[in-house]
Amino acid sequence: MNGVEIRGLCKSYGKIKAVDGLDLTVGSGQVFGLLGPNGSGKTTTIKLLLGLIKPDSGDALVLGRPISKGIEFEKIGYMPQETALYEELTVHENLKLFGGIFGMKKRAFLGREEEVLRIVDLKGRRDSLLSELSGGQRHRISLAVALLHSPEIIFLDEPTVGVDPPLRVSFWKTFHDLKRKGVTIIMTTHYLDEARKCDNIGLMRSGKLISKGSPGRIMKDTGTDNLEDAFLKLASAGSPEVLT
Ligand SMILES: Nc1ncnc2c1ncn2[C@@H]1O[C@H](COP(=O)(O)OP(=O)(O)OP(=O)(O)O)[C@@H](O)[C@H]1O
Ligand SMILES: [Mg+2]
Repeated sequence: MNGVEIRGLCKSYGKIKAVDGLDLTVGSGQVFGLLGPNGSGKTTTIKLLLGLIKPDSGDALVLGRPISKGIEFEKIGYMPQETALYEELTVHENLKLFGGIFGMKKRAFLGREEEVLRIVDLKGRRDSLLSELSGGQRHRISLAVALLHSPEIIFLDEPTVGVDPPLRVSFWKTFHDLKRKGVTIIMTTHYLDEARKCDNIGLMRSGKLISKGSPGRIMKDTGTDNLEDAFLKLASAGSPEVLT
């Protein structure tokens, strides 16, 4: 079973085609990176896959289940681009709230809470109010929430923005550990050094996928020896064509 299969997905906002006929398959246990300029449709794609917004047309399977049939939240982790946590609650209270939403039992929750706070290196801030944390620390708690219920597939929308370099390295170790356990990770990023660490990447422009494949394959196809040049070449190419 694939992590995600997208077929002809479209979503417009007025005249803006945010996602324009997207076709994409991500095998399970892959780290897949979605790249593209601001406004190219990355977040909209993730929100469609999570059922947070409805497509105008097309469909997608997440872990084999059509998004039109509703989302199995207990199997899915999500770290939004803008953190969606409760400022007036402590770190522990936030995690507990989400643990409850995911249907976690108390004992399992307490074990996982300790684990995810270790991963994001914030064990010492369990009893701090969210409002007392720095921007990067809040971002880290948002990742902790996404990992809390040991999901089978995780959508991470710019997970390493505002995260300091040593912690970014440790986040990537976590992503690869999860991959080894068969977890599918779909992330957006603007960092090409991170794109290189993905099994496969997709480059979006104006709601369309203009290139996809392993980083090595994309460099080969564009006749370049680094992703910077490959993306510059793709970005300056003619009107985007939909890949199938
Ligand atoms: N709720 C909305 N209402 C109107 N337009 C929207 C809405 N959400 C997204 N859009 C538009 O859809 C397009 C794609 O937006 P999206 O957030 O998916 O881009 P993105 O690739 O995630 O960009 P970024 O790198 O800045 O996060 C943009 O032109 C944006 O203005
Ligand atoms: Mg976005």
